[in-house]
Amino acid sequence: MTVTLVKHDLKYAEAIHALSSMPQVRDALGLPAGKVEDTIHFIKRECIDEEEGKTVPRVILDEEGQVIGVTSLMFIDRHKMSCHIGSWLGYEFWGKGYNLEAKEVILDIAFFELGLLRVFAGARKVNIRSQKAQEKLPFIRLGVENDYPDEHSWLEVKEKQPCVLNVFEREDFVRYRISLKKVKGKREAFLPQLLLADKNEEMVRKYLYQGVLYEIKCGKDLAGLALLIPQSETVIELKNIAIVSRYQGKGVGKEVLQQLTDICQQQGYQMILVGTANSSIDTIAFYQKAGFRMESIEKDFFYHYPEPIYENGIRALDMIFFSKLL
Ligand SMILES: CC(C)(COP(=O)(O)OP(=O)(O)OC[C@H]1O[C@@H](n2cnc3c(N)ncnc32)[C@H](O)[C@@H]1OP(=O)(O)O)[C@@H](O)C(=O)NCCC(=O)NCCS
Repeated sequence: MTVTLVKHDLKYAEAIHALSSMPQVRDALGLPAGKVEDTIHFIKRECIDEEEGKTVPRVILDEEGQVIGVTSLMFIDRHKMSCHIGSWLGYEFWGKGYNLEAKEVILDIAFFELGLLRVFAGARKVNIRSQKAQEKLPFIRLGVENDYPDEHSWLEVKEKQPCVLNVFEREDFVRYRISLKKVKGKREAFLPQLLLADKNEEMVRKYLYQGVLYEIKCGKDLAGLALLIPQSETVIELKNIAIVSRYQGKGVGKEVLQQLTDICQQQGYQMILVGTANSSIDTIAFYQKAGFRMESIEKDFFYHYPEPIYENGIRALDMIFFSKLL
């Protein structure tokens, strides 16, 4: 089973109308009985709202390309970095696992494209099926009415009835979605990603086949790479870590450091080492926020690089080593 999310289009009007007219869907959503013209109007409205940046509405297609439902990020608030989600599936597609798949794809958009921090998922208290479906999602926080009282009262005013409030937090979703997979066999294909973290190709080629190389996966997508090389029986070096640009700055690197730390600890290592240039201000912040401390400095490490490297207006000259006790 693999769902695809596509932008709204008038060619889907008939199918959306047919599915949303089934009493099970219509009653759950509290929709009045409507004609296909109402669906056409709805689709046009959704397209305008998306152009204005208010929503990201998507049609859910199954593996054969037939419409099975709709899902939408609504009330996008860029200041609060949050939005609300609304979805429905046609009655014949209930209980088949489509909900989880569609949520994964729409939340990828919310967290990795829009860069939001949380997505609220409300449900009317009378809509037990919707609440049960949400409870099954492994990355949801349930019953957050007291944590977000303003969002909750806003929702109840909008729906004109009692509602429950749940939330998808970016941190939880990233933990669920990110996994590490050992690379077996050839590693050259990963050079472009490794060069994101180390601009010196000659150097990268020297250590390319040492240690264990991990693909960082977001679902099935390649989100980055990490290379761990043992230095002794107790010390292991994180020689290279690179997150591809689409996934940078969204908590992925932080989660990967946590997963790598757990792996190294399980393998009996007592210290993890990582080096970064004196000019890499963001990376220096990144490691310290993850609990690493300065260990040593190798002066002029970058001095003999074929091309001088400048970041933040600073020339990369010295390598700062950070360490974390496991
Ligand atoms: C460096 C890198 C691995 C970090 O991964 P990332 O997914 O972008 O980082 P995250 O989103 O997980 O950020 C983790 C933390 O670092 C913080 N951070 C990043 N830059 C910062 C800065 N300039 N000041 C303060 N904090 C900063 C983030 O705010 C976040 O903090 P939080 O724990 O409070 O949420 C990634 O950006 C990357 O691959 N860059 C290119 C290659 C590279 O430089 N590799 C490292 C070579 S040593």
